[in-house]
Amino acid sequence: MTTYPRPDPRKKPTLLHSAYLSTLKRAPSKPLIQLPPTLSERTGPLYGHNPIGETDNDLTRQHPGEPLGERIIVAGRVLDEDGRPIPRTLVELWQCNAAGRYVHKKDSHAAPLDPNFTGAGRASTDDEGNYRFVTIKPGAYPWRNHSNAWRPAHIHFSLFGPCLITRLITQMYFPNDPLMAHDPIFQSIPDERARERLISSFDLDVTEPEWALGYKFDIVLRGRNATPFEEHS
Ligand SMILES: [Fe+2]
Repeated sequence: MTTYPRPDPRKKPTLLHSAYLSTLKRAPSKPLIQLPPTLSERTGPLYGHNPIGETDNDLTRQHPGEPLGERIIVAGRVLDEDGRPIPRTLVELWQCNAAGRYVHKKDSHAAPLDPNFTGAGRASTDDEGNYRFVTIKPGAYPWRNHSNAWRPAHIHFSLFGPCLITRLITQMYFPNDPLMAHDPIFQSIPDERARERLISSFDLDVTEPEWALGYKFDIVLRGRNATPFEEHS
């Protein structure tokens, strides 16, 4: 029977974290039952129907004009628990624009949409597990979790894996953001070092002169240095 190992609970978001109000409604109230994945869950759907387009990893070139905001490069590697690269895996990201607004009908933040920014991209890792995106630094945005609640600037990441139930979701943050200390979503990961693995690092090697600052964000799928992911229970 194929099973997928469960990560250390201290190194992933706590399912019931009272400061994060949505978890009060959705956290399971009974012990979880491990169900063996079915054949169709283990074998599909497979990524590959829609080839990655030329601008899919450059969120600043998906519209006629350039989006407003600070252009940045986000790059890193996808690695397994032994530091081996994961080649040719699909990395997707989504984010709000520089003003803190998502292109989403449920986003009612009083900040402008940018006609030149959708905020979604995807890339495949190369043979060494490297991925790279060009985008705009996302803004902080308010959410109604509690009075004066603001999400730190973040980018949502998805790694598809070989089939849908192996998909991993996480969020990348930026160094030295004062809002992380006040964010119940970031703080719902009990282990401080695990939280730090969600913070990208400013990197001069990723930075391009005269053009854009670069941030490095490596994603480790398993093991003691694993990146905290959201959907495992
Ligand atoms: Fe978000």
